[in-house]
Amino acid sequence: MASSDETNADGNSQACLAGLPAFVAEIDRLCADAKAVIAAARNEVDLEKARIEFLGARSGRLKGITRLLSGLSASERPVGGKHFNDAKETITAVFNEAKDRMAVAAAQEGGSSAGAAIDITLPGKQLRLGHLHPITQTIRRVQEIMSRLGFESVDGPEVEDQWHNFEALAIGPEHPARDPLDNFYLTVAQGVEPLLLRSQTSTVQIRVMENREAPLRIVSLGRVYRPDTADATHYPMFHQVEGLLIEKGSTMAHLKSVLRFFAASFLGGDVRVRFRPSFFPFTEPSVEVDMEWGGRWIEMGGAGMVDPAVLKAVGYDPHEVSGFAFGLGVERIAARRYGVADIRDFYRNDVRFLEQF
Ligand code: PHE
Repeated sequence: MASSDETNADGNSQACLAGLPAFVAEIDRLCADAKAVIAAARNEVDLEKARIEFLGARSGRLKGITRLLSGLSASERPVGGKHFNDAKETITAVFNEAKDRMAVAAAQEGGSSAGAAIDITLPGKQLRLGHLHPITQTIRRVQEIMSRLGFESVDGPEVEDQWHNFEALAIGPEHPARDPLDNFYLTVAQGVEPLLLRSQTSTVQIRVMENREAPLRIVSLGRVYRPDTADATHYPMFHQVEGLLIEKGSTMAHLKSVLRFFAASFLGGDVRVRFRPSFFPFTEPSVEVDMEWGGRWIEMGGAGMVDPAVLKAVGYDPHEVSGFAFGLGVERIAARRYGVADIRDFYRNDVRFLEQF
């Protein structure tokens, strides 16, 4: 550095500079050097080096020159001082300009050094967020629709005893529905009646009626288990929606209206509901429920008036109250609504499938 020897030396060395003109010349040279070095800087590291060399607060060349100021005569000093300040401003401006230029260039190259440089003129890119599984969406929708008719959502355990899964529902010890080949029995202890994974949500009817007085309007949605081989319409675990209404004077006509309201709300538009005579030990009369939507009839589940034997089993007086119950397959109504041909798709967890809902 041209001036460092002189400036770092004691005051006498300033004598080699002949007053103001020499001081000004020195400053001009420094300015020219600074501009050249800054212009040559290829990256931010170079630029920072340049900043330290010229503008550094402790040993920068500009700082060195302040010492020369004191070598000027009292009359020359204000002019010299102004010259010095102008130089400092110029170099700082040149430096800042170079810095801005580099930041813009880095942003255009996608570099990170520019921070959040966002081109707001580009088209937006949608963020993909997760969402609820279509079966969960269906369950919530069913709950919402049924709540409009005053049906309160309740839950029951998936591991059940035989009383709630069979006996209280009038499914006697010899009934084929209790066959070990048709149920997932859990052997808990030798000699104790085994528990099982519930095979139907009708268990919840019993649990609620045991604990509450009529009138009742409940809906229960949950998993049930049957050892079926998985195919397009069966799965060893599936979901049911169980509805139960216990009220004085309730009839099959009320049952049909509730199901029609539900079907129309869930599927939308024109839905027809058809009952076919059937048999369930816990309803009398019993029916199969079919729904027609988009020109096709689909079997949705079972229903009927709660059998007086069941009302008695839970301590109700069958002469006082009556009620109806229904149980529909959630996967079936979801498949119908979304046009899914194979219910196994709901459980393959292929995101390409799930993303569509
Ligand atoms: N629980 C019966 C089944 O799983 C369906 C049903 C529910 C039938 C309520 C009548 C009343 O098939």
